Formats: sequence, C-alpha cells, structure tokens
Amino acid sequence: MTVAVYPGSFDPLTLGHFDIIKRASFLFDRVVIGILNNSSKKSPLFSKEERVIMLKEAVSGLDNVVVESFDGLVVDFAREQGSHIIIRGLRALADFDIELQMAQSNHIVAPDVDTVFLSTSVEYSYLSSSMVKEYALYGASVKDFVPANVLPKIEEKIQLMKVN
Ligand code: PNS
Repeated sequence: MTVAVYPGSFDPLTLGHFDIIKRASFLFDRVVIGILNNSSKKSPLFSKEERVIMLKEAVSGLDNVVVESFDGLVVDFAREQGSHIIIRGLRALADFDIELQMAQSNHIVAPDVDTVFLSTSVEYSYLSSSMVKEYALYGASVKDFVPANVLPKIEEKIQLMKVN
C-alpha cells in the first residue's frame, strides 16, 4: 500500500489545496493530510484544531484520505505514518526555489523519504491562503476561492475579529 503525506498550514484550506488532495487520493492508496503551525507564518487565522475540523469536513467524501495534525519535522511525520512520500503542490516559479530547497534538504535528512510535486491546476495557479485571508479581512467575498464548508467559517471568524 502506497501512503503519501500532504503537509501544510491550510490556513485556510483553498480550492487549490483541495484539488491537490483529490488528485493525490487518485494516485495513492492512502493520503494523510498533516496540518501544522508553520513557524515562519505568525498569527494564524484558524487554530490547528479548527483547521483539522475544516479539513475533515472537506475530505469526508474521499475514502482514502485522513486528516492529522503534527508538530516537528515533516519527514518524522511521514515516517510515523508509514510513508516515504511527501506531496507538495507547485504553483509558479515563485514556489520553486523554496520547495526545491525543502525537498532536497528533507531527502538528505531522511533518504527514505522523497517529495512528489503535483502541478497546480491552471484555474487555481493564482490562489493562496494568504491571498484568501487578505480579501476576507477587507470584506471581499472569497466564495470562489475556498470549498463550500470553509466559507461560513471564514465569515464567522472575520465577524468575531471585528467585534473584538
Ligand atoms: O502550507 P505551508 O505553510 O506552505 O507548508 C510548509 C511546510 C509545512 C511544508 C513546511 O513548513 C514544513 O515542512 N514544516 C515542518 C518543519 C520541517 O520539516 N522543516 C524542514 C523543512 S524546511
């Protein structure tokens, strides 16, 4: 059985992430989504627990996809899950430098783990979680950018932020 892990912040889950998840679920026997707090990204919009719920709802129709959270190194998470494969989505040239650096260093640290890149579908090539957050924070609708279950959670969060 081929198990792949798909790590990320998913703050929030976008249609671009979801497209990668669906395609990975077709390619691999089991896909484990690993949600973490990225130390280089401060003040997440959603807590890790909220993101786990959000992702679990979104993938409920995909039988071979499970959602976990983790701290620490992605290669350790992959090994814990019995996986040799890290999946990452590649959008444009801007992603390439950092993704190549991560894939190469991860492979040195853990030679039994390799990174598989899936090119983002053209219709989502512009999309990022930070862009979604920016539009939402300034009051624009993000309905074209996120799965249906995520939209009310973003709207609710923005309302709460305005009140507090
Ligand atoms: O969705 P993101 O924030 O772009 O995901 C980045 C992620 C989680 C893949 C990366 O930050 C990561 O792997 N973090 C775990 C710590 C780790 O393994 N670091 C070594 C590679 S830099």
